[in-house]
This record gives sequence, structure tokens and C-alpha cells, in this order.
Amino acid sequence: MNRLAPSILSADFSRLGEQVSLIEKAGAHIIHVDVMDGHFVPNISFGATVMKSLYGKTTLPFDVHLMIENPDQYMEEFVTDNTEFITVHTEACPHLHRSIQHIKSLGVKAGVSLNPATPVSVLETIIEDLDLVLIMSVNPGFGGQKFIPFSLDKIKTLKNMKDKRNPKLEIEIDGGINLDNIKTVTDAGVEIVVAGSSVFGAPDIKKRVKELLELIK
Ligand code: DX5
Ligand code: ZN
Repeated sequence: MNRLAPSILSADFSRLGEQVSLIEKAGAHIIHVDVMDGHFVPNISFGATVMKSLYGKTTLPFDVHLMIENPDQYMEEFVTDNTEFITVHTEACPHLHRSIQHIKSLGVKAGVSLNPATPVSVLETIIEDLDLVLIMSVNPGFGGQKFIPFSLDKIKTLKNMKDKRNPKLEIEIDGGINLDNIKTVTDAGVEIVVAGSSVFGAPDIKKRVKELLELIK
């Protein structure tokens, strides 16, 4: 089953709890949590305190996307009963294998994200160890950017690797997803779709979640 993961980066933070229950009621499957440190990416978002403020207000799983340097130092803070995935960037992890083992030791699923310029081949040695690969289809740092078309080729390459070596792996896409391209990415092999501005920037958030869900079911 394909899952929709709205990114709260584009939510109205003054009404975060309200907006999260809105997307939950509309049928969204996951809450995508974009953590930015102003070093790995040129923007600062929020940390574990904001994510934990939603704890108890939603039953949806958290999908934590750490766009930070030295993620090993902070990942434990993001472990809650709701945390399904913690994802680190390969570009931020000189000891990626160790970071993956660290995430798993915390009892959550381990994900690795690739920036647009990073080829899928960097996963050759560790693909069997992963629960999730997150393909960035924009350069991380900001919501509301345009989908980079060559991301589609990366999805296909990864799908191939997944089918051969780790069929349980989940493929996630993040950046520039909207009503026009969501079906194209799921057709190519994506199972978890992140959508930020196309959900929270919509005039009717509930209606938009339902429209996106309809396209990927
Ligand atoms: C980008 C973040 C994304 C972003 C997606 O750095 O990782 O999750 O919020 O936003 P949209 O869907 O607006 O491109
Ligand atoms: Zn993200």
C-alpha cells in the first residue's frame, strides 16, 4: 500500500496540532518531520521538542528526516512510541554503516536519504541493512521547490536494486510533489510520498489530502 506523508515544515506552526489532526482525519498515513540545522542545509526548522508536542495528539507514525550534521548525536531525542523511521543523509554520515546500526539499536526503522547529486550506487554496500531510502527530488532546505526530473531515473535504479537485493525496503520521495506528478512517482516504485506545500498550502487541506490519496491508491 502506498502511503502519504505530509511534511509539517509547510504547516502553520501557530496551529500545528489542529492541522495535524486535520490531515489525520483526511486519511494521511504518516507525519513527515523535517529537521534542519542551518549547517547541513541553509535553513533552520525545529527540533525534537516541537515534534514531541504532537505526541498524544495524533496516532500517526512520525517519519523523522534529519537534515543535520552529526545526526548520531541527536537521533535518540527523536525516538517516541510514534516514531516509525529515522532517516539520515549519506552526505552527513562519514560512518554510514555505524549510523544505521545506531538507529536500529534505538528500536526504530532506519532510513538513508540521498541528495539530488548523490547517485543510488552509494547504497551498493549497505542496501540490505536499510528499511527505507529517501530520494530527495529537490535540494533539501526549503519547501515549495520544483521537482527535479532526473529523480525519476534514480527511483527506477533504486527499485531495481530493491527487487534484487532487499524487497522489503521502502522507497520514499521528498520534494516538489503535487497533484500532477504524484502518480508518476508511485508508478515508478515509490511507496511513501512526502508532500509539504501541496498539502498545507492548499486552500482546503482536507480536500487536498483526499485528492492526493485518490491518485496513489
Ligand atoms: C525539503 C524537505 C521536504 C519539504 C517538502 O528540504 O525535506 O520535506 O518540506 O516540501 P514540498 O513538498 O513543498 O517540496
Ligand atoms: Zn523531508
